[in-house]
Amino acid sequence: MIEVRNLTKTYFVSKRERKKNKMKNEYVRAVENVSFSVRPGEIYALLGPNGAGKTTTLRCMSTLIKPSSGEIIIDGFDVQNDSESVRENISFLTNELKLDEHFSADYTMKFFGGLRNMLPEQIDLRKNYLFDIFGIEGFKNKQISDFSTGMKQKLGIAVSLLNDPEVIIFDEPTNGLDILTAKTVTDYLLDMKEQGKTIIISTHVMRVAEKLSDRIGILIGGHLIIEGTLKEILEKTETETLDDAFFALYEKFGDDNG
Ligand SMILES: Nc1ncnc2c1ncn2[C@@H]1O[C@H](COP(=O)(O)OP(=O)(O)OP(=O)(O)O)[C@@H](O)[C@H]1O
Ligand SMILES: [Mg+2]
Repeated sequence: MIEVRNLTKTYFVSKRERKKNKMKNEYVRAVENVSFSVRPGEIYALLGPNGAGKTTTLRCMSTLIKPSSGEIIIDGFDVQNDSESVRENISFLTNELKLDEHFSADYTMKFFGGLRNMLPEQIDLRKNYLFDIFGIEGFKNKQISDFSTGMKQKLGIAVSLLNDPEVIIFDEPTNGLDILTAKTVTDYLLDMKEQGKTIIISTHVMRVAEKLSDRIGILIGGHLIIEGTLKEILEKTETETLDDAFFALYEKFGDDNG
């Protein structure tokens, strides 16, 4: 179970950064007063345009950054007071994870398994299972520097799933993947959902949200402006497709907040 209550995250921007990026304000309010929950056996999609606050929300959930205010509880553990337990109970995928270019896929898994305090036999079992699912077996001994974007993304996913936790937090999981590989990933997430895992993904791709999620939350300018099943969102916005719902909402809320 994931519970996010009144999450607000403000980034402070240094003078140098402000000058560099020609910014006026000392701070950026990336996410404001966002609340939602995700149940076991459910896939929740955070949908929003660039800069909406998706990654910020997921990073707060994954204990990478601290909320400015609000509360996040993951399987009963508070991200601020019990961050270590949270980390043990989540699988987190981020595009910002930089894999060491000199490592092979095989060694990368061993390395991260070690960090997770897994036993060598445990790592091997899980590694073979994940390499098989994501089609990594064929290039497991190649150096990452020779990988394509898709191969890196697949390995990133395998690394994040090394342990087998109940909560899966994936930031843009199908980013950079061709449609076959993207399907492998979405099928895997659907399998995990069947197993009763609690899953949240972020995406700016409507089709991914439509196809994969049980419920969708739309973030615009740091505000969660609507949430519900696809059917509920279409009803509330009086539209026929998620694209149209999104455009209607963006027209209404985009300028004020973004
Ligand atoms: N470390 C940071 N310092 C200052 N501002 C930041 C920082 N990280 C993100 N922001 C700002 O916070 C806002 C939300 O960014 P975030 O990365 O959460 O958006 P996103 O929805 O993930 O976007 P994208 O679709 O481009 O990945 C943006 O205005 C961004 O510029
Ligand atoms: Mg992002």
